[in-house]
Amino acid sequence: MSEPAPKESWVRAYREAPEIFDAFSRAEDPDSLVARRLITLAGLEDRRVLELGSGTGRYLRELAPHAELYLGIEPSPNMMALARTAARMLTTRPILLRGRGESLPIKGGSIDVMLAAWVLVNLREEVRNQVLREASRILRPGAGCGLWLLENHWDSQFQRYRGRGAEDETRLRHLIEHDGFRLVETVTTELRFPSPSDAERVLGYLCGDTMLGRLRRAPTALLEHRIAILHRPVDAAASIKYCSP
Ligand SMILES: C[S@@+](CC[C@H](N)C(=O)[O-])C[C@H]1O[C@@H](n2cnc3c(N)ncnc32)[C@H](O)[C@@H]1O
Repeated sequence: MSEPAPKESWVRAYREAPEIFDAFSRAEDPDSLVARRLITLAGLEDRRVLELGSGTGRYLRELAPHAELYLGIEPSPNMMALARTAARMLTTRPILLRGRGESLPIKGGSIDVMLAAWVLVNLREEVRNQVLREASRILRPGAGCGLWLLENHWDSQFQRYRGRGAEDETRLRHLIEHDGFRLVETVTTELRFPSPSDAERVLGYLCGDTMLGRLRRAPTALLEHRIAILHRPVDAAASIKYCSP
């Protein structure tokens, strides 16, 4: 029998310690390999983009300058406060709205590209299906349009340190086998913290005891990390079971 996944504190950080999540997101993929791939793969130039769960604004900082319109939707006011500060530094101002993916305050067919970075796999199935229905409603059909996801690939040093590989493999495979997503690319990058003690502070808070134990036994500021880029075209919705009446 497989081990239960260790208890982690991501949701607590979204509510109570957004600066911890922000330190994590600044350490994650510090050379912006994924953002650069997304700009090309999703053809972001001149698109109307909606980012679901825009958090502390990591992707809006990197992607908004390329889009015609960039909307960030985020339920946590504390996360959004940091994103608003990040947005003020940009010449192209994104629009930030409080909200949830289950009920988007957006007109049907008005968005070209929707991005959800580390949002979808952690939602309960019922909520995830509501979000996917909303994505189908707001996305405009057309070449290159659709829903893009970033999720952790199951096989990386980061996942082994978390003890989470098996559980995340099941979740990702569900998106591919049941929800109509295609794994477009896996980007090998890293989590790079300013120092081993920063890695211990941030990853210890977010990922809990399994991670903390490993970092204490072998302190490091650097972990190999693999990020999966997934895509679901707008038309895929027609063939998915939850879209039938
Ligand atoms: C792991 S964080 C990722 C933040 C950001 N996308 C990034 O990559 O830095 C997940 C985010 O999704 C948000 N979230 C959780 N449930 C959501 C929902 N039902 N609809 C929209 N956003 C949600 C959380 O508040 C949090 O900011």
